[in-house]
Amino acid sequence: MLSIIQLDKIDKSFRGNLLFEQASASFESGRIYGIIGHNGAGKSVLFKMICGFIKPDRGLIHIDPKYRAKRSSFPRNFGVIIDRPGYIPGRSGFDNLKKLADIQRIITDKEITDVMQRVGLDPESKQKVKHYSLGMKQKLALAQAIMENQEVLLLDEPFNGLDQASVSNIRDMMLEYKKVGKTILLTSHNKEDIDLLSDHVYQINQRKLDQLY
Ligand SMILES: Nc1ncnc2c1ncn2[C@@H]1O[C@H](COP(=O)(O)OP(=O)(O)OP(=O)(O)O)[C@@H](O)[C@H]1O
Ligand SMILES: [Mg+2]
Repeated sequence: MLSIIQLDKIDKSFRGNLLFEQASASFESGRIYGIIGHNGAGKSVLFKMICGFIKPDRGLIHIDPKYRAKRSSFPRNFGVIIDRPGYIPGRSGFDNLKKLADIQRIITDKEITDVMQRVGLDPESKQKVKHYSLGMKQKLALAQAIMENQEVLLLDEPFNGLDQASVSNIRDMMLEYKKVGKTILLTSHNKEDIDLLSDHVYQINQRKLDQLY
């Protein structure tokens, strides 16, 4: 099996608060992984370490060379939702995505429009992002994570603030993505999301990553 992300005996603490101690885990291609654990257990920190935003104190995070970027610790072809990204509050959703798309220049305006529709946002809307509702902001974050057809998605609480129809839409999208071979790591406090979507589940328990299945 192809392991695209591997954590090998990771230690991580913040000012004496030990979050991970000799934690190991392995994530294979084409699967959906649920990551669960109580508030403050370290789920978001785990995602930040995988993305290279923060470093473990000890241990190794191995990323498949195929996804390693030349000039950045952020892996290539990864799409992520972790915390709120830095949007330009006074601009529309489309303008914000366009700004982000201009960094890599691999997608067209049409593709931005399509992805907005896919997550349930109106691409024509001139509404400023600062006036977006919680659910709309969440959809924009999702759009940003998937718009470049990223192969590996790290989605930290992707269903936060979404209404029932949107939850169902985004669940379907994730299952479609799995069918085409994408890899998804997601966190959720909703057991139904985890049960329905995950092929495998890791629980943060006593500073380790316990694989439940
Ligand atoms: N940059 C940081 N500096 C100091 N402490 C931090 C930092 N980032 C996270 N922490 C602490 O690490 C712990 C784990 O945080 P994390 O955000 O990963 O939890 P979580 O499992 O995602 O929780 P939730 O379910 O609430 O999202 C918390 O106690 C948090 O305060
Ligand atoms: Mg979190």
